[in-house]
Amino acid sequence: MLYERSSKLFEEAYKYIPGGVNSPVRAFKSVGGTPLFMKNAQGAYLTDEDDRQYIDYINSWGPAILGHTHPEVLEAIKKQAEKGFSYGTPTELETEIAKFIVENVPNIDQIRMVSSGTEACMSAIRLARGFTGREKFIKFEGCYHGHSDSFLIKAGSGLATFGNPSSPGVTKGTAKDTLTAEYNNIEQVEDLFKHNSGEIAAVIIEPVGGNMGCVLPENNFLQKLRTLCDENGALLIFDEVMTGFRLAFGGAQELYNVNADIVTYGKIIGGGLPVGAFAARNEIMDYLAPKGAVYQAGTLSGNPLAMRAGFETLKLIKKDENFYKNLAKTTETLDFEIGKILNEKGIQHKINRKGSMMSIFFHISSVSNFAEAGNANHALFNNFFHQLLANGIYLPPSGYESWFISDAIKETEIDKTLEAVRKFEYFN
Ligand SMILES: Cc1ncc(COP(=O)(O)O)c(C=O)c1O
Repeated sequence: MLYERSSKLFEEAYKYIPGGVNSPVRAFKSVGGTPLFMKNAQGAYLTDEDDRQYIDYINSWGPAILGHTHPEVLEAIKKQAEKGFSYGTPTELETEIAKFIVENVPNIDQIRMVSSGTEACMSAIRLARGFTGREKFIKFEGCYHGHSDSFLIKAGSGLATFGNPSSPGVTKGTAKDTLTAEYNNIEQVEDLFKHNSGEIAAVIIEPVGGNMGCVLPENNFLQKLRTLCDENGALLIFDEVMTGFRLAFGGAQELYNVNADIVTYGKIIGGGLPVGAFAARNEIMDYLAPKGAVYQAGTLSGNPLAMRAGFETLKLIKKDENFYKNLAKTTETLDFEIGKILNEKGIQHKINRKGSMMSIFFHISSVSNFAEAGNANHALFNNFFHQLLANGIYLPPSGYESWFISDAIKETEIDKTLEAVRKFEYFN
């Protein structure tokens, strides 16, 4: 049996951890089968408990952009650990990383560190509400901004109606302040502003969607949101938890040349340790405690180990002027070559790609929003996933997730990946 020890470990985990995992997507519920238990991660590779090696296209869901356990990041963490794990006081390091980010990312003056992307987005919404004195906000179907109550809302039956909680435990009272629109549908956003005039604090968006598979903004969607927010006195929040330091050092703001009012970060900013952050210009950040009245805090916020891992990762990226060009080239090669093989096999598909994010949708010609992502053939994706896994390629275990290409993926890994795709057997 390929995954014998993982199966046993999952059985045991199931007794003590809800569903056997500490975050739902890890349970392979979407693709079926037993989740693999990993025991080591180096460069482009993961090793599971059955001693099988995989080329990793998840990279811890984004943070490991340099590949796993980069020697210089490891060394920096070790050195920091010798000086203590957590002080609960300000440190010089926090200012150093904040200054480095503010100086190298467009359009932000101050940044506040937290411990997860969820916290970052939750706090960004509170700050936008505090700043504007308004309560409602707009989000897009298929965008994920963490598991805070106000984000777990699906669209109501009509645009003028309230949203509905998408999870038990989220109250109707919370749901009424979250308005939802279709990704890439500017008319729906215009309608929401019209029906809720003077009430909308913010629009929050993944500037490139990564949680419905990879979905790109089309027809200047981001620029149009910027204009609508300006016209209506609302703030534009870019959730750059995935795209920040990934699409460019300055994230989607830099790549698309659109300024957001508040930007949230996570994943890469912590270099593999638990970090999130949110940032904005002074005028907005001055509303935040202890200077301003909008409360936000965290026992481990700015934790020295996490700051060290993040800072080292960001400096390594910044040092290499070809970093993003090379990553995009690797991803483009994967896109073209995988596409070619699938075409040769007569499998209709659409690959969406931006920078080092990509995903494959089967049996559909274009995907611009969540509903279209849902119309792809997910059963076929699941089959593709399992066959590649058996051949040592670890893709995200769902057709609704973006792949994250790391800098550790080189020609050898591309060749091995293409070999596995060539072996893919598809029965009509
Ligand atoms: C765009 C986006 N925002 C927010 C989050 C939440 O981040 P975290 O899982 O660190 O709470 C995620 C997580 O994947 C994400 O992809």
